[in-house]
This record gives sequence, structure tokens and C-alpha cells, in this order.
Amino acid sequence: MISFMDLTREYEFLKLELNESLQETLSSGYYIMGPALKEFEKNFSRYIGTRYASGVNSGSDALFLALKSLGIGKNDEVITVAHTFISTADAIVLNGARPVWVDIEPDSYLIDPERVVEKITPHTRALLVVHLYGQPAEMDKLNEICQEHDLYLIEDASQAHGAEYKGSKVGSLGDVSCFSFYPTKNLGGYGDGGMVLTKHREVQEKIRNLRDYGQQKKNLHTKIGINSRLDEIQATILSLKLKYLDSWNKKRRKLARIYHDQLTPGVRTPQEKENRKHVYHLYVINAPQRDLIQRELFKNGIESRIHYPTPVHKQPAYLPWRDSYLPCTEQVPKGILSLPLYPWLKEEEVNRICEVIDHASM
Ligand SMILES: Cc1ncc(COP(=O)(O)O)c(C=O)c1O
Repeated sequence: MISFMDLTREYEFLKLELNESLQETLSSGYYIMGPALKEFEKNFSRYIGTRYASGVNSGSDALFLALKSLGIGKNDEVITVAHTFISTADAIVLNGARPVWVDIEPDSYLIDPERVVEKITPHTRALLVVHLYGQPAEMDKLNEICQEHDLYLIEDASQAHGAEYKGSKVGSLGDVSCFSFYPTKNLGGYGDGGMVLTKHREVQEKIRNLRDYGQQKKNLHTKIGINSRLDEIQATILSLKLKYLDSWNKKRRKLARIYHDQLTPGVRTPQEKENRKHVYHLYVINAPQRDLIQRELFKNGIESRIHYPTPVHKQPAYLPWRDSYLPCTEQVPKGILSLPLYPWLKEEEVNRICEVIDHASM
């Protein structure tokens, strides 16, 4: 049996070191907004290369709070993609704004920068870009558009911890960036968690206020906020795991290379675009015989997934925002398949997966 993801292998490796750090945190008496969070915020913002960081409850909250802190709400439009995890778009709608969809590029499945300008209206306030599967979007072009049209550039980097665009880490390339630390992410906690990063001090102050019941200081509530704080246990785990992130991303890239070299020509493998470092949060192939391949993998005890089978604008909850025609976004889900890829996956397991796919594609 080859699982899509097996986190017990990671835990076995980290167990001793992790138990020691957790013991320290547990005995400290601080469980929310304590020294472990401060330390992780400092470590992660340094790693990404952005000045300010605020730990929150999840990637979804990070996105929601990022938009709220920029004052995005009723009558505003935010440009984004429909080929993403639902939370990207939910953050827009939950703030009362309207998601405006842009189609994706056929090769990278990332936002097509050539299609953005035609979607800008006087109501557009921001562009919410997703570095999907671990590959950075075309940030120079997107930044240029945002500057020209006076739009905020927000990065959903939930799948791209450590990915780079022209040598800079994603999460440092826009006005505000959002990360998820869901356990299966390249950097994941052992529960929910997220982070908002920004280079703007005033945005940072708003996020800090909004994540803590709108409290400016003890018992002074200046905004209607929520309770969304990364807890001390998760912060401890994440600080420890951050030390390994680069080496784990290296392993992902090595395994991706093996897939790439072994998979048959009938299967399209992910392409790393020029000037970008893909960190393969997901290894997504595309093949016309996708269903057959998935069935064959299943018969051989190998799990695979589809990220994502239904684009957001076709989800029932998005009926009011369904109007766009997005040919690539609608075509891509018919052929994509995510294969197991995580740092603890063994090379012989990748070889076995390739063998089964090869057999199914003949
Ligand atoms: C692209 C993207 N955005 C947002 C999220 C939401 O993150 P979380 O699950 O931590 O709320 C995820 C994670 O699942 C994601 O992959």
C-alpha cells in the first residue's frame, strides 16, 4: 500500500526533538500568544524575507483577514482564479466582495497574466494570486499590472512554502501574503494554523487587531474582530520543522525529477517554468486516460487524488458568481491527477508508481 501522504514517517524522524520542545512549551504555562508564537513569527518572516508576520488559526483565516485588513468589502471586486482550493475565493465572498475569475495558463495551471487586464473595472481593488501546487505565478507581470491599475497584490502561498521567483521567496512578492500550515503542507503543523505576512506596518497592525477580537490593547476593542491566533503548541512544532523545510523541499524536487524521467510520453508531467523554483507541494500529471490510470493505481494499492475536480465557479455555493467562460479552467480538471509526493516517500515507491502508470498507459 502506498498512501497519498504518510505523516507518521515524519513524526518518527522528529519524535525525540519534538517531544523535548513540546515538553518545554507545555511546562511554560503559555498556550496562546506566548513566546513560541513570537519566535515562530520572527523565524518565518526572516525565512520568507518579509518584515511583518502574524500567526493565525488557518490559511483560510489568513486570507479572510488579509482582505479585511485592506478594507476590501461590499461593492469591491477581487480578481482571482477558479482552479484553486475553495478558501481562496471564500475569503473574497466572506468579506462581501465579488470574485472575478481569470482563466489559467494551459501549461502551468496558474493565473494567465495576459487575461488579467480585461477583467479590471472601476470596482477592482485587488488581485489574489495562487502559487498553485508549489509553483510561483508570473509575479513580475502581475506586479506591473497591479501598480499600473493601483490594485493590491495578495499572494495565496498556502501550497508554496519555500518556492522562489527569480531568487525571492513567494510570500515576499506582493502587498500581503497568506500561508496555511495544514498538516500536509510543505510546512505543516499538527493541527490547523496559518500566517499573514506583509511589508506594510499599518496592515500588520490591523491584522494583529482583527485576529484578537479587535483588541487594540487589553479591554479596548476598536474593531469587530475574530479569534484567530496560532497557538503555542503549533508554533513550537512549526519553528522546529522550519529548520528542515529546505532539505525537505530538496527531497520533493528529487522525487519529482524521478517521476519526470520515468513517466511515459503519454502522460504530461509538471513543468518548472523559467526563473522559478517549484517546491512540488503536489505532483500533478495530466493524461487523457486519467480515470484508467487512477483505477489501475487503486487496484495496486496506490492512492492518488484530484486537485481539484470542480472549479470554484462551478461549485453550488458559487451559483451567483458563475457567469464566466473559462475554457482552460474547465478543461484541466478532466485530465489531472495528483500522485503521492512527500519527503518521506521512498524512491522505490516512486519507481513502483511509475511502473503501474506505464502499464496502464500502454
Ligand atoms: C491554495 C490554498 N488556499 C487556502 C487554503 C486554506 O488553508 P487552511 O486549510 O489552513 O484553512 C489551502 C489549504 O488547504 C490551499 O491549498
